[in-house]
Amino acid sequence: MLSIAAPHLLLVLLAVNLMPTTPLEKEQVPGGAAGTGLGKSRKRVIPVPHTKAPELDPIAEAYGYCNTPNRTEQAWEGHSPADYTLLSVQVMIRHGDRYPLYSIPKTKRPTIDCTLSPNRKPSHPQLSAFISHMANGDRGHWESTLGSVPRLPNHSACEMGELTQTGVVQHLRNGQLLLQAYKRHSLLPSGWSPRQLWVETTGKSRTLQSGLAFLFGFLPDFDWPKVTVRHQWSTLFCGAACDCPARNRYLEEEQRRQYRLRVGDAQLESTYAEMARALGLPNRQLRAANPIDSLLCHLCHGLPFPCLQTAPGGGGAKACLTMEQFSVIRRQQLDDEADKRQVGLYRKYAVLAMHPYLNRTAARMERAARAKPGTAAAEVALALAAAHDVTVAPLLSALGLEEARFPRFAARVVFELWRSPPAAGGKPPAKGKGKGTPGGEAFVRLLYDGEDVTFHTAFCRGHKRHGARPLCPLKNFLSYVRRDMLALLNASSYQEACYKRPG
Ligand SMILES: *[C@@H]1O[C@H](CO)[C@@H](O)[C@H](O)[C@H]1NC(C)=O
Ligand SMILES: *[C@@H]1O[C@H](CO)[C@@H](O)[C@H](O)[C@H]1NC(C)=O
Ligand SMILES: *[C@@H]1O[C@H](CO)[C@@H](O)[C@H](O)[C@H]1NC(C)=O
Ligand SMILES: *[C@@H]1O[C@H](CO)[C@@H](O)[C@H](O)[C@H]1NC(C)=O
Repeated sequence: MLSIAAPHLLLVLLAVNLMPTTPLEKEQVPGGAAGTGLGKSRKRVIPVPHTKAPELDPIAEAYGYCNTPNRTEQAWEGHSPADYTLLSVQVMIRHGDRYPLYSIPKTKRPTIDCTLSPNRKPSHPQLSAFISHMANGDRGHWESTLGSVPRLPNHSACEMGELTQTGVVQHLRNGQLLLQAYKRHSLLPSGWSPRQLWVETTGKSRTLQSGLAFLFGFLPDFDWPKVTVRHQWSTLFCGAACDCPARNRYLEEEQRRQYRLRVGDAQLESTYAEMARALGLPNRQLRAANPIDSLLCHLCHGLPFPCLQTAPGGGGAKACLTMEQFSVIRRQQLDDEADKRQVGLYRKYAVLAMHPYLNRTAARMERAARAKPGTAAAEVALALAAAHDVTVAPLLSALGLEEARFPRFAARVVFELWRSPPAAGGKPPAKGKGKGTPGGEAFVRLLYDGEDVTFHTAFCRGHKRHGARPLCPLKNFLSYVRRDMLALLNASSYQEACYKRPG
């Protein structure tokens, strides 16, 4: 059965954006605080969005960002030509729905319960089992300080940035979806060995808990002693290769671009001024509070937008933030995504930011492809990186998927590695080629939120998928990561690209 998904049009939409002020530890916040660049206040023509994707409506698009777990999802993971063998799967997820990271002064924070209860919506058939299983987490292995991070959200009034029940359910569903997708390929058969699973997370509770929910949905038997959770200090998952001055320079330039675009947007400026007036706040204070982050949370949870908290008996008309204001901020963020693509600084930042992660991903694939059949239990079959939007967004950009939408809550990027049957396509491998890939050749598929985007990537865009080989050859990916990607920066190595003199 040849069941490769016809690649759907990648929706162009991108939502939230805005770079964090510090590249490594801070979460990117929708509508992040204004940078410090010196903006020239120049009126700017609002670019016409260049696609007709329906979700470019800022409100509809925001609902997509929420990723409310109330419908069946498409998942093209696990589709391959008949007789191909699945060797490994590497997944990067963004954490699920969370409480805002900032609050809007003079308004009431959204009322959301972050304890887990199977009786509350949205729920999941595995939720109670998940809650009880997490109670035994001290039987797992935790790198550095991860052992002291709570394994379940558990505050009746959510704390800032805490994962919500919606976020847990989103990842139970992701895990279960992939379990179904890979079932017949026995990726991790029961009795899997600890070496077949690689889990890494940042030190935030929302990523760690998201990763655990995903694993609980995915693993046929979640045997704690077999699980080791590793710690990535940087949100870029750059391990021991985080030092990269050129990356920081590109990020600063990118932030200046973003700042200039924002202050040049007259409609945005007047909307912020109007919001600040309504709440009786200095404009700067309102902007520093990232109102869009909080408004998104209200929207995702079906709560009315916040109003000025008046003293009891205060009287007068109630001043509330409005959908129109929300829509203007989101519209500007969509413009920003388009501008960001066009200017290209972000792509350069992203290549450097994600090289260490992609290099490790490539190395793991190469090892799995070379393993002799029967020795699979010694190789990683599932690698999971529980990450943030500031990880997933540069990953997509580094792969050349710049048209992809901004990572929604519980977004997933999946790398699949396949091996063709011996001499598939009727042509035996040429002498010397395919050496070390026993019984056929290795191929890669890439999926974003369940959609097959393999042939939209920079490493396989030109590849003819209707040829004898319907998937993307692993060697394309390897040479992209090790050479072509860095050539975008006129460098032949990561070190060289990072330490090159500017200019
Ligand atoms: C799911 O929830 C969203 C709101 O987040 C709503 O717009 C949509 O209609 C709902 N879909 C279904 C199938 O209930
Ligand atoms: C959650 O918090 C409550 C109250 O603080 C406590 O009784 C309960 O044991 C906690 N549950 C878990 C799973 O940590
Ligand atoms: C990339 O991975 C290879 C192993 O495949 C390693 O030798 C090399 O040092 C890595 N390079 C960087 C820049 O991380
Ligand atoms: C790479 O070199 C080309 C030609 O010399 C130049 O036009 C381009 O700007 C350089 N790119 C970078 C990122 O340095």
